[in-house]
Amino acid sequence: MFYEPSKKNHGLPKNPFNSLIVPRPIGWISSVDINNIANLAPYSFFNAVSYQPPTVMFSGGAGSSEDGMKDTIRNIEASGEFVCNIATWHTREQMNQSSAAVPPETDEIELTGLTSIASELVNAPRIAQAPVHLECRYLKTVDIPGWTKADEYKMVIGEVIGIHINDELITEEGLVDIAKMMPIGRLGYDDYTRVDSGSLFKITRPR
Ligand SMILES: Cc1cc2nc3c(=O)[nH]c(=O)nc-3n(C[C@H](O)[C@H](O)[C@H](O)COP(=O)(O)O)c2cc1C
Repeated sequence: MFYEPSKKNHGLPKNPFNSLIVPRPIGWISSVDINNIANLAPYSFFNAVSYQPPTVMFSGGAGSSEDGMKDTIRNIEASGEFVCNIATWHTREQMNQSSAAVPPETDEIELTGLTSIASELVNAPRIAQAPVHLECRYLKTVDIPGWTKADEYKMVIGEVIGIHINDELITEEGLVDIAKMMPIGRLGYDDYTRVDSGSLFKITRPR
């Protein structure tokens, strides 16, 4: 099949786009608002962007919010910082719960029964139950056009200035044990996948 997104002519019951670029890692972003109320939400339009310095991006849709911004993005633009917690198999339910649309003054970390711990370099808290935390300094927002106002996205880019890795995930050889960590990835629809010892494989790059 071939279709042109702008013509909405895929003819399928659901837009297949999100099912094609998969699996997408899930950045579980914690931030604080100007009153220091914590916010937590998952973003699968998320990835690493560069190595030195390490940077990450995520992108949030305007939806029906009045100012066209998710709470996470409003907080980050005001505070200049955020933490990216890596979502894993063990926290999949809380990750999903934290995507509920709740008023900005609600602390989703408390709401989901997760434990908040202080960061080293930023005000935004970390999620104790996540095995990896990237403490980030806000770099810039790139506005992504939409067909309508509600379709507009804002892509936030941050520099990773501090990285926490649960020591239990470091192998004797000094590698990160990804199979033990079990990160989850977003597929299309309501589907997810997870990395574990059964799904990992190796390929050596040509010289
Ligand atoms: C696995 C998952 C991935 C999501 N990815 C995104 C995303 O990339 N961009 C987005 O705008 N919303 C995404 N959402 C929805 C947001 O998490 C949801 O709108 C949330 O309420 C935003 O919270 P905030 O306003 O506190 O930032 C995702 C939800 C789930 C469950």
